[in-house]
Amino acid sequence: MSTDNRNEEKNLMLKEVLHGLSQPQKVLPSKYFYDHDGSELFHQITLLDEYYPTRTEMQIMEDNIDEIVETLGRQVLLIEPGSGNSTKTRLLLNNLKKLSGYMPLDISAEFLFKSADQLQEEYPKLAIIPLQVDYTHPFELPEFPSYCRRVVFFPGSTIGNFKHDTVSEFLAVIHDIIEEDGGFLIGVDLIKDIAVLEAAYNDSKGITAAFNKNILKHINDELACSFDTSKFDHYAFFNEDKNRIEMHLKCVEDHSIQMNGDVISFKKGETIHTENSHKYSLDLLKELVDPWFDIKKFWTDENEYFGLIYLTPK
Ligand code: TRP
Repeated sequence: MSTDNRNEEKNLMLKEVLHGLSQPQKVLPSKYFYDHDGSELFHQITLLDEYYPTRTEMQIMEDNIDEIVETLGRQVLLIEPGSGNSTKTRLLLNNLKKLSGYMPLDISAEFLFKSADQLQEEYPKLAIIPLQVDYTHPFELPEFPSYCRRVVFFPGSTIGNFKHDTVSEFLAVIHDIIEEDGGFLIGVDLIKDIAVLEAAYNDSKGITAAFNKNILKHINDELACSFDTSKFDHYAFFNEDKNRIEMHLKCVEDHSIQMNGDVISFKKGETIHTENSHKYSLDLLKELVDPWFDIKKFWTDENEYFGLIYLTPK
């Protein structure tokens, strides 16, 4: 990446971090969890006993793969926002009939092209067309050489991490790119017993805590500032009014830090809000997507912990 781009990225990060930390309820953009260590910690979260979503979604897909393949139909151009190079994607690529192509979307070119190349080695005959784009805003899809139906795959309950105002724009964007004959296959974490939900974000090995605190380390590295991670505790709980897990970093003693000449003070007990993970029921999901989509299919596991839903455009 060029030095100019790096500087631009750092300036944006500084602006967003300073803005977030000057709010009455301090907040940090959750995209800054994911530096190299953050991505590795997140991968470890997906393997934890308490973190049921990843394995449950995979199980739902495996148990229902024939019906999923039937539902998605033929000549699919499979589009995946967030360019997963995941086992879930492979399950679809291996099973879809007369697949037309695979198009991973990502804002970060580096990650996007690397994982597309890896996948191309595994699937030498598949048309893989990576597209560098911010998929939360309207964008054009390049023309595909032959007839295909566009199906967007969005697993992992990532939709739950969107803010309420951005989720609508995202749904409208997806609605527009898939056109009338396309579809939208989405994974959502379901509302359930609070103890189960809270344990998933407070694992006994402390990996989620390390992941949460890593956002401060990432900011220290990039912006040469001086967060002391030992002055914050991981704090995650289910907010019942808003149907969401909230992750915060709770300050354990009054202190202040320097950032680019500014001084930022933290009081004991105050928190920095770092992430939301919204949970849905089928009814709440229907309400959310109703302006753009109809629910065609709903698959779940025996505990009804997680939902895989196929939507078609209105
Ligand atoms: N979408 C997943 C979830 O909300 C993954 C995720 C995003 C996550 N941020 C996280 C998991 C922070 C644990 C902690 O569960």
